[in-house]
Amino acid sequence: MTGHRVAVIPGDNVGPEVIREGLGVLGTIRRVLAVDLEWDSFAWGSEYYRQFGQVMPSDGLDTLSRYEAIYLGAVGDPARVPDRIMSWGLVQPVRKAFEQYVNVRPITLIPGVQSPLRIAGEIDYVIVRENTEGEYAGVGGRIHKGHPSELATQTSIFTREGVQRVMRYAFQLARRRNGKKLVTSATKSNALNHSMVFWDEVFEETSEKFADVSTERVHVDALSMHLVTKPGHFDVIVASNLFGDILSDLGAATVGGIGLAPGANLNPERQFPSMFEPIHGSAPDIAGRGLANPIGSIAAAGLMLEFLGETLAARLVRSAIEAVLREGAVRTPDLGGTSSTGAMGAEVCKKIQELASHRAEGTGS
Ligand code: IPM
Ligand code: MG
Repeated sequence: MTGHRVAVIPGDNVGPEVIREGLGVLGTIRRVLAVDLEWDSFAWGSEYYRQFGQVMPSDGLDTLSRYEAIYLGAVGDPARVPDRIMSWGLVQPVRKAFEQYVNVRPITLIPGVQSPLRIAGEIDYVIVRENTEGEYAGVGGRIHKGHPSELATQTSIFTREGVQRVMRYAFQLARRRNGKKLVTSATKSNALNHSMVFWDEVFEETSEKFADVSTERVHVDALSMHLVTKPGHFDVIVASNLFGDILSDLGAATVGGIGLAPGANLNPERQFPSMFEPIHGSAPDIAGRGLANPIGSIAAAGLMLEFLGETLAARLVRSAIEAVLREGAVRTPDLGGTSSTGAMGAEVCKKIQELASHRAEGTGS
């Protein structure tokens, strides 16, 4: 078997804290399942920016292109570097250069975790966010700076190919999940009479090729309400870059908070590396104190293992997370506990070992 090579970017603030736990889990997986996995770490982010004036080196993308996957903590240190510089210095270029056109964000309420929703019930859907164009295409500019006539534009870009490919992924995912087989499109074609009308048309065309999958179109404002009032209804939600960004934070909040939520930036064709990260940011307000919940980052490592074809390893990570949350003995403050980031990571590792040895006993191997 050929080994997997991963580029790790711990980043800023809580980034390195949660990545440490994610790497602890990957190390455990490597040991107990003999998964062939190697990684190199890159100290890019705000400190690198302060020293060298850029968030990553000029040949950073070349360097990353030699890996199969990228494992990212978070970059950002708003007190010292404007967010847009960090975002457009690393996350956006990586997503765009490596055609990571799908951002997969599973929203699942795990037993043992308290949802802030009274009517929570079962919540288990996936947000498929377009990740390389749309509202975050980066097209626009400013003129007459500082004058009363100052003008700023930010143009959304929707290409047929760009919309088609993310929608195709959403439909295929609905098939693979084999649940409700329902794709909900987040639209706003009542107000965005060009871009979202086009989005709706491509959705319609794509749906014709997936006759076994049900569809619905919901305006994003109503959809954000439904994610609160009837979250159990959803299966796969396909959304533009901005809408998916907002809906995924909202969705994560309904299943226990962004500390638990993983994300995968995928290049499904595997021409370029895909990137895995917790969906939370660098959380400077709680950084350096061992307060951050590492589960989002550990779950992102699980998504990475799945994408790398290490199905058993991915399943083990997921089961270990579920067991830790169900038992509830070790909980970080966001979950109402007093445990540290490190204690939570260690508990997941312990569970992986236990589950792996039960499995070995069970199969007699
Ligand atoms: C996310 C984040 C990023 C985004 C920021 C950090 C650029 O909010 O991944 O959801 O807007 O995509
Ligand atoms: Mg976001």
